[in-house]
Amino acid sequence: MVQLNSKFAELSEEIRALKKERNAVILAHLYQRPEVQEVADYTGDSLGLSQEAAKTDADVIVFCGVHFMAETASILSPEKTVLLPEVKAGCPMADMVTADALRRKKAEYPDAVVVCYVNSSADVKAESDICCTSANAVEVVNSIPEDKRILFVPDRNLGHYVGLKANRDILLWEGYCNTHDKLTDQDIKAAKVRHPKAVVLVHPECRPEVVALADQVFSTSGMIKYAEQSEAQEFIIGTESGILHEIQKRCPDKTFYLASNKMVCPNMKATSLEKVKWALEEMQPRIMVPEHIRDKALSAVERMIAIK
Ligand code: 13P
Ligand code: SF4
Repeated sequence: MVQLNSKFAELSEEIRALKKERNAVILAHLYQRPEVQEVADYTGDSLGLSQEAAKTDADVIVFCGVHFMAETASILSPEKTVLLPEVKAGCPMADMVTADALRRKKAEYPDAVVVCYVNSSADVKAESDICCTSANAVEVVNSIPEDKRILFVPDRNLGHYVGLKANRDILLWEGYCNTHDKLTDQDIKAAKVRHPKAVVLVHPECRPEVVALADQVFSTSGMIKYAEQSEAQEFIIGTESGILHEIQKRCPDKTFYLASNKMVCPNMKATSLEKVKWALEEMQPRIMVPEHIRDKALSAVERMIAIK
């Protein structure tokens, strides 16, 4: 266990006591602040966390992540109380597609199968045929008959990467992650000059020219697994900075370099221990999805979970 400073240690103790009282589980994405990851029962990528949310027997899920993740937990477990400690923690990429805009695009391509990255609102999921995460996007696309046209929303970079891997011509939406899209091929080249022996691991939300320079492309949990099993000693990491906490903990003898200091998602860093404690005390902010939307969104999420 990582040593926390005394303020964090005290808050963590209080959170653990509240958690027991409320029969709550704390789920934290790997981009969260280190002290938030440390107090969590589970840390993981979007896929792993949605699987945990689906199977937990806790009454309350405290989701340390961004809005769409808490919504997905609520879609999967409507009988549970889902709390998002920082209600303003949204995902700019998820906001780049609305249900209205998607309906208009579907009218242009009525036969297309809509694959929706889990980084999207419940309304958009409800308009989609199947969801995916960065960990299972290739398998999801491969599950769609080859004669079907695919519309992929909202991440053009992930959609492009999946199109290459699955050898499919995919209609892309013009969305992107503000954090990953900032990483350039020049950043990767400069990092390789500084660390010539390092293996380059990037997230598929990065631009195609960045992905082209990588040795491996993975979701956040995939990167950690790969680093654990690899013989290599040094890695350049092309994803959000929060991953360094868990990856370094799991591979204490290996060295990890962030590909660029720009790789910080302010929304993922908006959740603090103070807010987690407050959420458990007040049992808010609660995230709920209206039943008529939840029903349709659930089908898209369940089709994804059935694949992986
Ligand atoms: P995952 O690797 O968890 O799918 O990360 C994607 C992401 O950006 C979450 O916000
Ligand atoms: Fe959204 Fe990117 Fe932040 Fe993930 S890292 S929450 S995709 S903006």
